[in-house]
Amino acid sequence: MALSSELNTYHKERVIRQILNSFIMTIILKIRKDNPEKVLVKQAAEIIRKGGLVAFPTETVYGLGADALNAKAVEKIFEAKGRPADNPLIAHIADKKDVYRLAKEVPKDAELLMKEFWPGPLTIILKKSKIVPDIVTAGLDTVAIRMPSHKVALALIKEAKTPIAAPSANLSGKPSPTDAEQVIEDMLGRVDVIIDSGSCDIGVESTVIDMTVKPALILRPGGLPKEKLEKFLKNIGKEEHSEKPKSPGMKYKHYAPNAEVIVVEGSREKVMKKARKLVEEYKSKSKKVGVITTAKEHGYDADVVKYVGNTEKEVARKIFKALRDFNKEDIHIIIAEGIEEKGIGEAVMNRLRKAAGYNIIEVR
Ligand code: TXA
Ligand code: MG
Repeated sequence: MALSSELNTYHKERVIRQILNSFIMTIILKIRKDNPEKVLVKQAAEIIRKGGLVAFPTETVYGLGADALNAKAVEKIFEAKGRPADNPLIAHIADKKDVYRLAKEVPKDAELLMKEFWPGPLTIILKKSKIVPDIVTAGLDTVAIRMPSHKVALALIKEAKTPIAAPSANLSGKPSPTDAEQVIEDMLGRVDVIIDSGSCDIGVESTVIDMTVKPALILRPGGLPKEKLEKFLKNIGKEEHSEKPKSPGMKYKHYAPNAEVIVVEGSREKVMKKARKLVEEYKSKSKKVGVITTAKEHGYDADVVKYVGNTEKEVARKIFKALRDFNKEDIHIIIAEGIEEKGIGEAVMNRLRKAAGYNIIEVR
């Protein structure tokens, strides 16, 4: 079928998805968030046990899961996402005891974090045991482990009776999905099951901390703010933006919508003033301009303005969907207001700067 030139990228992708779906039929299972239906969880768990792929909700973002101990099944994750093979996956567990199966050593400090923050949005890097297939860790001698708090995720892992390896359920390079509709956009026809339990509470991925080094190192800011970790770990380092990061995933182009993104950072008033100016500039060059704002009364004269809330937590919940939804509107350029880097704001800014490919304007 020829794709009409009148269709924009978003709609072309939809057509491709529908074609793909005639090859692998994806089953969509609606499962209650608070009181997951056992029969449905069983159905999804059965697919994991048979080596299939199940997209499932967590409290951070949706994950794309396979049996972490089945190398063939994990290989399918990389295919479905188009993910580079050198980017390792997180093993999700439903019982803290499983850490001792997946990891060779569990330092005291790591146990303290597990006790305080699991289940929850924290991924801990430990030395790996022999049972973890190399494909999960991309050949590294460490493994990333997380116990999510979402009831559906926990029920699925328990019922599958195996740890579930899962990256975020987006195509590689795209914003992580925070509801099932976004998963369907990327994964229909590529996976066996998509579980739909509505939107994720946190909206950005877990914090990744490396406990194999001293001091412990935050490799990715995320759902669990550094301020909370610091109450339990005196000395925490932070990996700076570099060409050769320790967390392989951090080097790739990420979270990027089709449009170019510019982040404007600094004091709120100056940010909005500069953003308004940029809107005018690009519009005068006949560009279609989108804005991401944290002000309800913003006064932007852009083609599309997305209000993402005015607290760090609210912005975290909405930022990925906002970035994604601009694709539906053929926007050329997105101007995003920066937010304060406190609490989960640090993770939001980390994602926004990446989405912008570090295209940042500072107005302090
Ligand atoms: O909240 C989350 O963490 C979500 C949900 C589904 O749990 N998952 C997620 O996975 O964000 P993913 O694959 O999109 O990001 C995992 C990050 C990547 O940056 C990867 O490079 C890093 O964790 N990572 C995994 N294993 C690692 C290891 N052994 N050493 C260093 N970094 C690792
Ligand atoms: Mg990801």
